[in-house]
Amino acid sequence: MTDLKEMIDPLTAWYRANKRDLPWRREVTPYRVWISEIMLQQTRVEAVKDYFLRFTAALPDAKALAEIPEQQLLKLWEGLGYYSRARNLQKAAKEIVTEYGGQLPASYEKLIGLPGIGSYTAGAVASIAFGIPVPAVDGNVLRVVSRLTADDADIADPRTKKAMEERLAAIIPASCPGDFNQAIMELGATVCVPNGPPDCARCPLSSGCEAFRRGIQTTLPVKAAAKPRKIQPRTILALVRDGRIAIRRRPARGLLAGLWELPGVDETLDQSGVIAKAREWGFEPLRAEQLPDAKHIFTHIEWRMTGWRITVAEDCESAGLVWVDPERLTEDYPLPSAFSAYLQPFLEKYGG
Ligand code: ADE
Repeated sequence: MTDLKEMIDPLTAWYRANKRDLPWRREVTPYRVWISEIMLQQTRVEAVKDYFLRFTAALPDAKALAEIPEQQLLKLWEGLGYYSRARNLQKAAKEIVTEYGGQLPASYEKLIGLPGIGSYTAGAVASIAFGIPVPAVDGNVLRVVSRLTADDADIADPRTKKAMEERLAAIIPASCPGDFNQAIMELGATVCVPNGPPDCARCPLSSGCEAFRRGIQTTLPVKAAAKPRKIQPRTILALVRDGRIAIRRRPARGLLAGLWELPGVDETLDQSGVIAKAREWGFEPLRAEQLPDAKHIFTHIEWRMTGWRITVAEDCESAGLVWVDPERLTEDYPLPSAFSAYLQPFLEKYGG
């Protein structure tokens, strides 16, 4: 396709007939569009649905989001990952309350000035919630348009995204720009899919698609390989005493900043190693049982975890650790899913 304008009508018609029924599409408000678009970054639609419903029920507007204690906010976000997204949401909500009277501003420029909102999110909120004709270029859009135009530019290069935004800004329709943006994303998510062959037989744009015409749709888009993640060995110590488990707060900066964790060390320890470590922390271990290995993938790092359940004597205390029972653990403390493999055995054994 040489003139991207040609895609507008068939694509929008296809979208209206085929769009998925999603919670944030049932009642479209600027706040709900914003929350959903932030959640959808790096997270699949299916995984987001329940979080979105729970989050918007607990925090129906920017004022409620601005006022919730951070630990409760992180608890609502628990399991979604990339927790800086939640902190930025709250920072932005505070600005929305102080600067804009509690309502998201109907301006692309003002939206992009808020914490955690980049060109994609500003474009999505501006177009979907306010009908402002600006593009919203995410990975789906980069893939679809690269294929339509048989463009082999590297989509990992920020300049490619910038060029795509400019191209789409020139053709985006003034009427229902939000449907147009969502239509490209929807096509990318359900038909012109990544990781595997696109379903060109079902595509409303195949007759004008240059990659399809040349039979090169599976080779596009081109994406430079990301730097490999650092592999980090880690030993998790599930210290258990009288039906309670020890947790601690992570440092305010860095990986999983300010969240709660099962204590651990950045090395692989064997049984005598974990016993020595527990003693170093001031405990008297009675028993050390190995738990299954687990791994967790973060953006730039991958934990390869070994875990031990260490039953300790009644009367010891250690600085910085908090002893919690299963109920308080699940109700009160944001514990990232990285620790699930080692929390589950505790909850199964002692939970109600
Ligand atoms: N992925 C992220 N945001 C989306 C949207 N608004 N529509 C379809 N897919 C999306």
